[in-house]
Amino acid sequence: MRISIFGLGYVGAVSLACLGRDGHEVIGVDIDPTKLELIRSGRSPIIEAGMPELMANVVASGRIIVTDDVAEAINQTDISFVCVGTPSQTNGDQDQRAVLRLTEQLGKAIASKGTPHTIVFRSTLIPGTVEKTLIPMLEQITDSTQGEHFDVCFQPEFLREGSSIKDYDQPPFTIIGGSSERAFSQLQALFDHLPCEFHRTDIATAETLKYFCNIFHAVKITFANEVARLCEALSVDPHQVMALLCQDRQLNISPAYMKPGYAFGGSCLPKDLRAMQFQAKQRDVIIPMLSHVLHSNEVHLNRALDKIRDWRNDHGLRRVAQVGLSFKSGTDDLRESPLVELAEQLIGKGMELEIFDPEVNLSNLIGANKRFIEESIPHIGRLMRNDLGAMLANADIVIVGLGDKELLDIVRQQIRPDQILLDLVNMPDRGQLNCNYHGLAW
Ligand SMILES: NC(=O)c1ccc[n+]([C@@H]2O[C@H](COP(=O)([O-])OP(=O)(O)OC[C@H]3O[C@@H](n4cnc5c(N)ncnc54)[C@H](O)[C@@H]3O)[C@@H](O)[C@H]2O)c1
Repeated sequence: MRISIFGLGYVGAVSLACLGRDGHEVIGVDIDPTKLELIRSGRSPIIEAGMPELMANVVASGRIIVTDDVAEAINQTDISFVCVGTPSQTNGDQDQRAVLRLTEQLGKAIASKGTPHTIVFRSTLIPGTVEKTLIPMLEQITDSTQGEHFDVCFQPEFLREGSSIKDYDQPPFTIIGGSSERAFSQLQALFDHLPCEFHRTDIATAETLKYFCNIFHAVKITFANEVARLCEALSVDPHQVMALLCQDRQLNISPAYMKPGYAFGGSCLPKDLRAMQFQAKQRDVIIPMLSHVLHSNEVHLNRALDKIRDWRNDHGLRRVAQVGLSFKSGTDDLRESPLVELAEQLIGKGMELEIFDPEVNLSNLIGANKRFIEESIPHIGRLMRNDLGAMLANADIVIVGLGDKELLDIVRQQIRPDQILLDLVNMPDRGQLNCNYHGLAW
C-alpha cells in the first residue's frame, strides 16, 4: 500500500520504519528539516532501541522517502497517518494547532487530487475533535462529504517510548474508530497480521479510550507509589506487598470492579480506606489519590439523588420505588450500603419512598441486621415492602439498585412508559424497556 505519514516524532518515525520494513512504500512528512535530513541520511530522528538499524535498512531499501511537501505526499499515496504532536497548553487544554494546520493542508491537497484518499488520525485527540472539528473542516475545504473524496478514521496509538518497535509489533489491541468501510479494510490489510484483537468502534469512543488507557496507567503508578509511601511509614516492604497484590488475578489484576455502576459500600472498603487514611495522617504521609477515594465515591452516590431531585423539581414526581437496600446482590448486609444512604437522602428530601430488597425482608431477618434496622434505621425499616409488584405499580420513579436476574425480569415486565427508571446497575437489554429510562452515568 502507498502510505504517507505526517509528523515524524516518536509515533510517526516508528510507524514509518516499521511500515517500510513490512514492505510498504512510505512517504514521511515533517516540518522539521533536521528530522528530514537525518532520515534521508539513513539515521533515526529519535533515540529508540532498534531504530538506528531499522531506519538505516529501510532507507537503503528505497521504500521510504521523506519530504515537507504535503501535496506531493497526498498525491502519491492512498492513505495517510497523522501523527503530529498534541501537547498541553499552559491551562491544561490540548494544543491542537499542529493538527488543525495540517488538516487544512491535507484538505487542500485532497481537493486537487483526483482519487479518494483515507486519513487516519493517530495523534491523541480530545474526544469529539475528529467529528466536530476535523471532518467538517475537510468537508468544507474539499467541498465534499466524508465518503466521497476522502474517508476518515481514528486509530489510537498504544506504543511506549523505549519499547516502541516491540509495542508496534505487539500492541494490546488494534482499535479503529469510524464508519468508513474503505478505511476499515485498508487498515485491516495493513494491521491484520498483528497478534492482537481488532476492534471497531465509533470515533469518539476510540478517542476517549486512548485517554483512559493512559490515565489508567497513571493511576496504577500513583497507586503503587502511594502504597510505597505508606508502607515505608509502616515499616513494611512495599515491593512485596505490591508483588503479592498483583498475584491476585481474581479481584486485583482483573476486570473485577472495572464496570461503571453505583457507589461502593459495605462492611470493608469504606472502613479500611478510612483506617489507612488515618495511619497516613498520623505519620504525616501525604497520599492525595487514596485520600480522595471516599470523596469521589460520595460524589457518585449523590449523582442518583441529584437526578431524582431534578425530576421532583421539574415534574413534581415524588413517589419513589427503590429496588435494593443492601450494598450488593446476594447479601443482607446493610453496613455502609450506598442504597441505605440514598434512601436516607430521599427521605430527607421529602420523597415518598418505598423499598424492596429480597435479602432484607424484615420478616425473615435475624441477628445483627434486624437489630441494625430496628435500632439504627427504623425509619427505613418502616418503608420496606414485601410485594415488589405492588410497590412498582405505585411509583413515579423506580430505582434499580440490584442486578439479580429475577428482580430485573419483574421490573422489565411491570415498568410502564409513564414511569422513570433510574438504572444504577447497567441493566442488560435496556433498549427493550418500555419506560423513561435513565442510566446513572450512561
Ligand atoms: N510518544 C508516545 O509514546 C506516544 C504514544 C502514543 C500516542 N502518542 C500521541 O501521538 C502524537 C505524536 O506524539 P509524538 O510523541 O510522536 O510527538 P512528537 O512531538 O515527538 O512529534 C511530532 C512531530 O510532528 C511534527 N509536526 C508538527 N506539525 C507538523 C505538520 N504540520 N506537518 C508535519 N509534521 C508536523 C513535528 O515537527 C514533530 O516531528 C501525540 O498526539 C501523542 O500524544 C504518543
